[in-house]
Amino acid sequence: MIRSRILAAGGYLPADCVDNATLAARFGIDTSDAWIRERSGIRQRHLAAPGETASSMGAAAARQALERAGVGAEAVDAIIVATATPDSSFPATAVRVQAALGITHGFAFDVLAACTGFVYALAVADSMIRSGAARTALVIGAETYSRILDWTDRGTCVLFGDGAGAVVLRAEDGEAGILSTHLHADGRHAGILHVEGGPGSTGTSGLLRMAGPEVFKHAVTKLAAVVDEALAANGLARADIDWLVPHQANIRIIEGMGRKLGLPTERVVVTVDRHANTSAASIPLAMAEACGDGRFKPGDLLLLEAIGGGLTWGSALVRW
Ligand code: COA
Repeated sequence: MIRSRILAAGGYLPADCVDNATLAARFGIDTSDAWIRERSGIRQRHLAAPGETASSMGAAAARQALERAGVGAEAVDAIIVATATPDSSFPATAVRVQAALGITHGFAFDVLAACTGFVYALAVADSMIRSGAARTALVIGAETYSRILDWTDRGTCVLFGDGAGAVVLRAEDGEAGILSTHLHADGRHAGILHVEGGPGSTGTSGLLRMAGPEVFKHAVTKLAAVVDEALAANGLARADIDWLVPHQANIRIIEGMGRKLGLPTERVVVTVDRHANTSAASIPLAMAEACGDGRFKPGDLLLLEAIGGGLTWGSALVRW
């Protein structure tokens, strides 16, 4: 059976690493390190330098993923970038990544599902690989949320960071690979987590707005449901999961899911303390870290889950 096997993951974080106290001082935010840590688990985040963009960071993450996979850029025939902060409305960030990697064949496009973007992009790539439309794909999450934050809104600006992560997928006949993906959206809740306007709107700020406690409530119930959906679809039990690789928004949501699944904390990949919420980049960045230190072993079962603006939410089960 042809599956999309994840060969390796890579990541990129901007050099400017800013802890909570420094962030508060730099942007004049009325907050404290203690509040941010207690409510979110975040200690620091990386912020993109003026010249850095989703495509430049995405290309860097892709290079590391390809190197770890031992795959040359010339083998890549599909590039899908999940981002809500593209370099420009068009061309797609994926096309810029393609050019940066020196690839001149295949296809490249972006997917927008906010913080669920990577799971959506993974699902699209998996479908295309299994249908034969692509053989080797780069799936990338890359974000520069620092450019859409309202630095006068302390309820949001302390929670996000910049960065990029990438995975290399290849069509392989075997047991390893993506077992299933499960995507959901409910646009009735668009207003609780959104960007005010954009290039197709007039008179808008272009800044992120979030009703944090409302998003929190949706996250707890919808993530629990989509995790059970993934297990049921594969006839698997919670005890079968080796690694939870969650979207990194808030340590309280992550720990709640780990407890629900009965996973010891060391089986949950956590980066939110150091990366903050990097939206579509958070899961591939977490995978890059675990891939880099050899945590994932062949045959391990990984559960990926995310929720974000839309609302969108989804999960993926992966055999490493
Ligand atoms: N520093 C200090 N105080 C702050 C603050 C900050 N950075 N941000 C908000 N506060 C204050 C509020 O003004 C409020 O004060 P008040 O009670 O005097 O009005 C108080 O802290 C509590 O605010 P609230 O928003 O209710 O806090 P919370 O416990 O719900 O935590 C979040 C806020 C955002 C951390 C939490 O709601 C959350 O994580 N939500 C989910 C967000 C998420 O996952 N988003 C991404 C999904 S992709």
